[in-house]
Amino acid sequence: MSTQFSIYYNSLENQKYLRQIIESGAGKLVESHDLAHLPAQAVNGIDVVFLEYQESNPELDHWIEKIAANPRSPAIFLYFKEISTNNLWKALRLGAKECFTFPIQEEDFRQAVKRLVARTEVRKISAKPTQVISFLGCKGGVGTSFLVANLASLLAQEHRGKVLVVDLDLGFGQLNYFFDVHPEHTLIEVIENIEKLDIIYLQNIFCPIGDNRYLLPAPARLEEAEIINAGHVEKIITYLKNNLGFRWILIDCCHQLDEITMKALELSESLVLVTAQSIPGLSNAKKMLDTLGLLKLKGLEVEVWVNCWDRQHELTVSDAENFLGKTIAGTITCDHQQASFSVNEGKLLVETSPRHPISADLKLMAGKISPEDTPEKTNGSGWKWLQRLWSKKKP
Ligand SMILES: Nc1ncnc2c1ncn2[C@@H]1O[C@H](COP(=O)(O)OP(=O)(O)OP(=O)(O)O)[C@@H](O)[C@H]1O
Ligand SMILES: [Mg+2]
Repeated sequence: MSTQFSIYYNSLENQKYLRQIIESGAGKLVESHDLAHLPAQAVNGIDVVFLEYQESNPELDHWIEKIAANPRSPAIFLYFKEISTNNLWKALRLGAKECFTFPIQEEDFRQAVKRLVARTEVRKISAKPTQVISFLGCKGGVGTSFLVANLASLLAQEHRGKVLVVDLDLGFGQLNYFFDVHPEHTLIEVIENIEKLDIIYLQNIFCPIGDNRYLLPAPARLEEAEIINAGHVEKIITYLKNNLGFRWILIDCCHQLDEITMKALELSESLVLVTAQSIPGLSNAKKMLDTLGLLKLKGLEVEVWVNCWDRQHELTVSDAENFLGKTIAGTITCDHQQASFSVNEGKLLVETSPRHPISADLKLMAGKISPEDTPEKTNGSGWKWLQRLWSKKKP
């Protein structure tokens, strides 16, 4: 379906011009309004309000700001008589999504609509049921967020399915840095609207992080995190799971087995426990496995993955398995330099270096999560591991 526009114009000449631009970009003009008669709200069902901006009109600024602040409203595109740094700053402050000036290049306009469509793609429903996978670090800094971010990209690639990443590291969630995005909205706004969740509202809250994938960011401020409770998490995850049509929801639970994490686990199909190749890491993993064993969470499949794996290390896989009394699902190669470079640059390693051993191991992990897609054969450390695991499972 084409993108639906409404025009808000000052002069009839510009109304005609904007209509022509919309139609040349394969958009559909649904209605237009004179700026002198601004309606209280933007009309339902419209994707974009394309507005001819008028300088020195505080009422108009106020209207734009009000519309842009509401995630249920259409996106706002502004048309300026002339573009200047001041105008751009102003548009940004008001919450406009795109700015144009005469003459509008058709290609620029098409790209702007494409960006918008990427945002709204989230409405499309997956044919397969949503699978919720939680990731929990056995210790701080074991690479949980690194794994979640890279896996989100792998799972969304090749149209395997739409992915939503939920940052449940409420106090210190930093997944936005891994994707190099600057989210406008966070989980806290969802909490504020928890009694009236709807699909279009949520679609505007999610931050696009690439094709087929979105982020629900953690609150921006520490004090905001404190108002979130397990009841909120239950409502949100249940709604996301049942209504948004994602193939996968990946939850970064940080490294606390607290009431927020417990609620996420209750609603998850599987849990990836991320640990390190060290005595403290494995000892915490054992504690967590013991607690999870006592809790007997129904239908929750638990896997242990060891990140930062060094083949030369004295702790072997069988040492780890003997200690934990559980098979280790896989390992992810260690490369401090590349991993830290990718995090600091906000560029996912699986995208910049798809053949790197870490990427190869992560592809195996993605292949395990989505077994209908054959994982590529690689030289990653996990490969032999999984071979061994699969052969063990054969009757
Ligand atoms: N396979 C790896 N090899 C080497 N370094 C890694 C690997 N995976 C992650 N790292 C490094 O570990 C650092 C911490 O990663 P990350 O932030 O994902 O940890 P975390 O477990 O989410 O931490 P926290 O518990 O604080 O949320 C990253 O900056 C990255 O450089
Ligand atoms: Mg983290």
